[in-house]
Amino acid sequence: MSEVKNYKNDFPLLQRKMHDKQIVYLDNGATTQKPEKVIQAMCSYYGGCNANPHRGAYELSVQATDIYENARAKVQKFINAQHSHEIIFTKNATESLNLIAYSYGMSHIQAGDEVVIAISEHHSNLVPWQQICQLKGAVLKYIYLEMDGNLSQEDIASKITEKTKIVAVAQVSNVLGLVNPVAEIARKAHSVGAIMVVDGSQSVPHMAVDVQALDADFFVFSGHKMLSPMGIGVLYGKERLLNDMPPFLMGGDMIDYVEEQQTEFAPLPAKFEAGTQNVGGAAGLIAAIEYLEQVGFDYIEQVEKDLVNYALPKLKAMPYIELYGCDSTLYNKTGIITFNVQDVHPHDVATILDAQGVAIRAGHHCAQPLMQYLGQNATCRASFYFYNTREDVDRWLEALSKVRGVLGYAE
Ligand SMILES: Cc1ncc(COP(=O)(O)O)c(C=O)c1O
Repeated sequence: MSEVKNYKNDFPLLQRKMHDKQIVYLDNGATTQKPEKVIQAMCSYYGGCNANPHRGAYELSVQATDIYENARAKVQKFINAQHSHEIIFTKNATESLNLIAYSYGMSHIQAGDEVVIAISEHHSNLVPWQQICQLKGAVLKYIYLEMDGNLSQEDIASKITEKTKIVAVAQVSNVLGLVNPVAEIARKAHSVGAIMVVDGSQSVPHMAVDVQALDADFFVFSGHKMLSPMGIGVLYGKERLLNDMPPFLMGGDMIDYVEEQQTEFAPLPAKFEAGTQNVGGAAGLIAAIEYLEQVGFDYIEQVEKDLVNYALPKLKAMPYIELYGCDSTLYNKTGIITFNVQDVHPHDVATILDAQGVAIRAGHHCAQPLMQYLGQNATCRASFYFYNTREDVDRWLEALSKVRGVLGYAE
């Protein structure tokens, strides 16, 4: 790969020690660390122009409104949406998906209709559809996986039918790190008159995304997985569809006019943004996008591939390591490695690694149907970002090599 840059110095938290050791943070799939520029952007908002946006006739409120609306324009360009009013701010990807399910789903799904999702979906892109299908008497169908963890091409071809109204699939699985062919699935969905919802929570931080090229009808992600603060998320929706949906939350700011017995709703995007919005989060999101644009997605993809290619042969040489989703050719994988250590519960693995300063995720990763499909209760997950290094991988693997010994097993 081209020259490796040291980005760690930009991240205050990565300078910390944990259990007397320099921290190695490998839980970026859960949330990423924040660079100084993002922290500063939030501090300057709260220290310099905090006010309620869209409401005040005074200068501070106008400045807060400008920051908020600049963030919308920034996100529009970042994911190449056609209009800025197609960008709706939410709390996170979960809220965005619930908004689609309860607003679009409740008003467009009838008894007997079908919704198709993948078995690898995060609960946020599964439970809302499951509940809407139950409420409406619709059928929830699953695309299962090939042996290598990729979505079954046969299922994509056969499960999406004339009865399908909604197809909802993640662009990248949060457990396996595999990139799903969402543009191809969108074409299939559109050919039967269904709409395509893409969960971009694990793709937007790691690759350039163009919602128009994907032809996604809805696309969602969370700011906190891409260097931004927690509490700001995005829902992109095609203008035509958003206009054809009822509001999800009601209250201040989402109305044009209210009378005792009826309300006229505001046009997009305000119609879906009830109540006081997260302007501090929007300030952080602008800084995060600017930072990511400077780093560049070519570089981010290169680093993550390099780290996966560096780690995998070493992991495969450890006879007690079981890997998931690591067989397929690596061109379609982001920096996520999911594994188990034979005879050891994933929580014990994570605790033993933590004692050596290495933070990974262990559990069902909010993907219990996938765990059931893989025949596992839980797994461990190391997830990289562009600030991770080969030295981080060495520290992780060294700590991992001690796990079975600590518990009295032969190593
Ligand atoms: C693929 C995927 N979808 C949705 C979510 C939910 O994100 P949030 O908790 O920020 O709403 C996550 C979080 O891990 C995820 O990985």
